[in-house]
Amino acid sequence: MSEINTFATQQNEYIELVAQIMQIRAMGEKPLAYVRTYGCQQNVADSENIKGMLALMGYSFTDTPENADFILFNTCAVREHAEDRVFGNVGAIKSIKKKHPSALVALCGCMMEQKHIAQRIYESFPFVGLVFGTHCLHEFPRLLYQSLLSGKRQFVTGNDDLLVHEGLPKRRDGAFKGWLPIMYGCDNFCSYCIVPYVRGRERSRSSAAILKEAHELIENGCKDITLLGQNVNSYGKGLDENISFSELLRRIDAIDGDYTLRFMTSHPKDCTRELIDTIASSRHISKHLHLPFQSGSNRILKLMNRRYTREKYLEIVNYAKEKIDGLSLTSDIIVGFPGETEEDFSQTLSLIEEVGFTSLFTFIYSKRVGTPAAEMLDPISDEEKSERFQRLLKVQEKIAAERCASMVGTRQRVLFEERAKKEGIINARTSGNIVVEVEADEGLIGSFGTVEITASGNWVLRGRPV
Ligand code: SAH
Ligand code: SF4
Ligand code: F3S
Repeated sequence: MSEINTFATQQNEYIELVAQIMQIRAMGEKPLAYVRTYGCQQNVADSENIKGMLALMGYSFTDTPENADFILFNTCAVREHAEDRVFGNVGAIKSIKKKHPSALVALCGCMMEQKHIAQRIYESFPFVGLVFGTHCLHEFPRLLYQSLLSGKRQFVTGNDDLLVHEGLPKRRDGAFKGWLPIMYGCDNFCSYCIVPYVRGRERSRSSAAILKEAHELIENGCKDITLLGQNVNSYGKGLDENISFSELLRRIDAIDGDYTLRFMTSHPKDCTRELIDTIASSRHISKHLHLPFQSGSNRILKLMNRRYTREKYLEIVNYAKEKIDGLSLTSDIIVGFPGETEEDFSQTLSLIEEVGFTSLFTFIYSKRVGTPAAEMLDPISDEEKSERFQRLLKVQEKIAAERCASMVGTRQRVLFEERAKKEGIINARTSGNIVVEVEADEGLIGSFGTVEITASGNWVLRGRPV
């Protein structure tokens, strides 16, 4: 069973101590923090907690590292490319640290939970003073205090304690879009994936804590809530209350207010008809299902340890299409998994054509040290993988364009989200998660409205307010 640890009692004294140290060092001015986040929404949510703690310690925030007193990179380990970006960007901090020697440079997040990476940081980046993994987030004030006080390098990772930490402060990035973690970690061990190793075992938050946060978000004017977890469909496992993800959704949906409820990510092996029925009959849940299938070939799915078949996937998708009017489906795909043949790949293409996704997140397989797939024979060349990747993009582009075109003339309820790059245009989002460019007044940002779709591109729509 997941135990709960309450933050405040243990960290308040360190928050106070850091505030005192920084008040002296910054000579009465507010100390500045630069926090850069890589990776998925889970990391974004973690960074919101870190910024919440920093704000309590008296820091204000800057978008550039040059003048920051505290520089933090919250890292992602999911693919090699993500890691390379971190190494590049941390390397560039060296010159800043030279000009501003008292700045503390820190790294946290998923990459740091890999021993070989922490070792590489230790050896190659001597100006990095603090490293902490995903399991130490709740101890950040103490770690920061110890670093500031001693001036010594601290590397703290790898403590998989299975606790759920409640009560962490939070400084949210957006006023009307909110991330709400409902669980942490992952127990699925897909053979290619590093997440279970760097995020630890799956543990759910209590429904009471989640509902409390949902209420607060809605009361504070949040219009778009996304529930987060690596596999939200297995929510509730190990809790002493008997609750499924569908039940949790229904309880949140019962809260009155003007908001959309989203969630990610759903694992197809645990996606039930009950979940689809819950979406279909809800008041607030978006008509969007992000259901990563990774590969259309049963042989590869087995090697990936995904524990569903193409047929099972299609069955649940077809049920969802039947039940949810105007459903928008999106997915993640890995191209070039070790040993993927042309025949396997063609099955992925045919699945895409059969389902008709609104959009896809496509990745070329990236070898992750310590995962079972890293030990599998991988005879396909990088060129072949890129060529397959390009073919897949082409097929999807056509499908997405057709889907968008079919929406022209319809009316859609949207949330007006932000100013677009183009003058006088606002980006809005449909319930199905499609962006609509709308010529409209900026005052609408943060509110819902109805638009008529007037034109379409490959990925985006054009519309005008009704
Ligand atoms: N828990 C989520 C996704 C987490 S990672 C889920 O199961 O769907 C997000 C996506 O990154 C995955 O869906 C997968 O498509 C991709 N991914 C994960 N590991 C990868 C790897 N080693 N190489 C390439 N893509 C990977
Ligand atoms: Fe990785 Fe699979 Fe867990 Fe998703 S479900 S985080 S892909 S191991
Ligand atoms: Fe990356 Fe960690 Fe998320 S590895 S994808 S930031 S859980």
